[in-house]
Amino acid sequence: MDFDSKKLEAYYSDAREDISLSEIDLDRIPSHVSIIMDGNGRWAQERGLDRSRGHVAGVDSLRETVTTCVRLGVDALSVYAFSTENWKRPQREVNLLMHLFATTLVKELPLFHQENVRLRFLGDLEALPKETLKVFQRGLDETADHTGMEFALAVNYGSRAEITRAARSIAQDVASGALSLDDVSEEAISSRLYTSGLPDPDLLIRTSGELRLSNYLLWQLAYTEFYVTPKYWPDFDRWEFLRAVRAFQSRNRRFGGVVSK
Ligand code: IPE
Ligand code: IPE
Ligand code: MG
Repeated sequence: MDFDSKKLEAYYSDAREDISLSEIDLDRIPSHVSIIMDGNGRWAQERGLDRSRGHVAGVDSLRETVTTCVRLGVDALSVYAFSTENWKRPQREVNLLMHLFATTLVKELPLFHQENVRLRFLGDLEALPKETLKVFQRGLDETADHTGMEFALAVNYGSRAEITRAARSIAQDVASGALSLDDVSEEAISSRLYTSGLPDPDLLIRTSGELRLSNYLLWQLAYTEFYVTPKYWPDFDRWEFLRAVRAFQSRNRRFGGVVSK
């Protein structure tokens, strides 16, 4: 956790009535924040626009959120961008999203350099169009030596597929003798998930008011605090992020133990 307080105060200088930076304990910023970015389609439809316009507008929210997390000293930010179920959408929307992922990543690489952000992906990338995959690989290569915040983009991600893949890998290792049955542990499973090496999220944010996980990080969210906002993803901003952190800091995390304060 590392933050520049002057820069942060300037970033949060235009006051809001209901929230201010002074309400936040900067020593207790969640280390890993994860976001289900939802509501792009409804945001657009309510404005009489095509759903795709909502996805394009959502890019601005994501850019702002990356900056916000860096400023606040978040160690890892993961975001759900495309689920294994999202292939069911009209081909036109899927194509647009795949194109948007690639063009956005190219455009935002300077920001990743400037903010020292390291990129990773969660999900099965092999099913992605070649062009998208090529850009993703470039993003990985160019940010590999960055030492700041880790930014994980979940694309073609599904938690059940992820756990199934881990189970298969363990079965294979046990069958070959590389792993003994006694070594099939929680760690053995965690280390075979796409999130291997990332701490479990401390805070999960879902926008658009939906109260479900939609196949996201089922294993990793075991003790994560949830914050759901009715705001659609394109309306999410640094202030809403601060409200989420304030809510997180008001919770008493017990991890199954007893109340600590
Ligand atoms: C989230 O917004 C973006 C993706 C799932 C790719 P949606 O596209 O799900 O927007 P709504 O939920 O239909 O409003
Ligand atoms: C979850 O949102 C997936 C992403 C945000 C990428 P969906 O919009 O696909 O979820 P459901 O269908 O409402 O559960
Ligand atoms: Mg949705």
